[in-house]
Amino acid sequence: MFEHLPQLPDDPILGLMVAFHQDSNPNKIDLGVGVYKTELGNTPVLESVKQAERDILELEQTKLYIGPAGAPEFTCAIQSLLLGDNHPALTENRVATLQTPGGSGALRVAAELAKKGTPNATIWVSDPTWGNHIPLLSDTGLQIKTYPYYDVASHGVNFDGMMETLNQAKTGDLVLLHGCCHNPSGADLSQQQWQAVTQLANEKGFTPFIDIAYQGFGEGIEEDAYGVRLMAEQLPELLIASSCSKNFGIYRERVGSVLVISKNAAQAQACASQLARIVRGIYSMPPSHGAAVVTHILQNDTLRQQWLGELDTMRKRIFQLRGQLLEQLNAKGASNDFSFITQQSGMFSFLDISPEQVQRLRDEFSIYMTSDSRINVAGVNSHNIDYLSSAIVSVL
Ligand code: LMR
Repeated sequence: MFEHLPQLPDDPILGLMVAFHQDSNPNKIDLGVGVYKTELGNTPVLESVKQAERDILELEQTKLYIGPAGAPEFTCAIQSLLLGDNHPALTENRVATLQTPGGSGALRVAAELAKKGTPNATIWVSDPTWGNHIPLLSDTGLQIKTYPYYDVASHGVNFDGMMETLNQAKTGDLVLLHGCCHNPSGADLSQQQWQAVTQLANEKGFTPFIDIAYQGFGEGIEEDAYGVRLMAEQLPELLIASSCSKNFGIYRERVGSVLVISKNAAQAQACASQLARIVRGIYSMPPSHGAAVVTHILQNDTLRQQWLGELDTMRKRIFQLRGQLLEQLNAKGASNDFSFITQQSGMFSFLDISPEQVQRLRDEFSIYMTSDSRINVAGVNSHNIDYLSSAIVSVL
């Protein structure tokens, strides 16, 4: 039964974690997987999360199933976080929201719904995009096409190229957008560019599908929701996949959500029933704990403020690290202009060096990043920045 199945290569992102752990070089640096790290290089449990967990341990009364859609308190709280409290899509009951196992679960469930709605749908994804988008989405049977996004020459968004290609997208097509903190490039759409894509979606009739996994790591929790809120207001249909892994630091708890915005309340209800059916057929229902933590934090004023403060600290630290890395690279005489690092947002930037240079950094210096030269800026700290910047300059 299995003899024709070949051995597959390691996942290009997750495989780095394993390789890094096996490396015995005391100077090794992990700039691979997109997780927040402190000055000491660890990924801590936030204080607000710890407190919520203690509270839940005391308060939890039952371990009863929560059902395919997840906990209503969670979906309600997450809708407000993404859309704001009185968003018209919410007051018009046009939103079906479902708790999912992480942002990946949300992407998959939303893609399955799209496939049910339009079996021969094409999904347009940015070039480049998160390494797992294409395998995850194509496994549902959706056709994948790409639109140009990152311009290596300017280290920014190739917006003209993007719009020109998306002109070909039509009704029934999906266009995957990164809500903020584009993964892997760190190059985001401006507010004007979000408006232009929204207008194009209205003209062409395609349905945007926004993946927002880093809300709060760009400019702030509210600011980062600009594109999501705009599209939810101005378009008849929209898919949103969101993740709490990064902004609550609860990666292993697998907490995400999918929001489906439909033309009217009746369609939203129908979509909710379809989503529940899809979930029942895959994993039946999501786990409870992480979503309960998020709900408790969002519903409790003190914990919410504490969490927002912790998120702000993470965001600001990454921003500072971008400046420090640039300073060090320049001080060491880097022949490339790396100033773009300080203009990008979120955890990631490309170094825009070749795969061979990336491989040299790994082989000669035990510095780990994906082969496209994406670095997780949060992996930089005051202990490794000198070694890191010297190594980068030496392979240029
Ligand atoms: C990343 O891009 O590194 C993160 O989103 C982690 C993952 O699952 O790939």
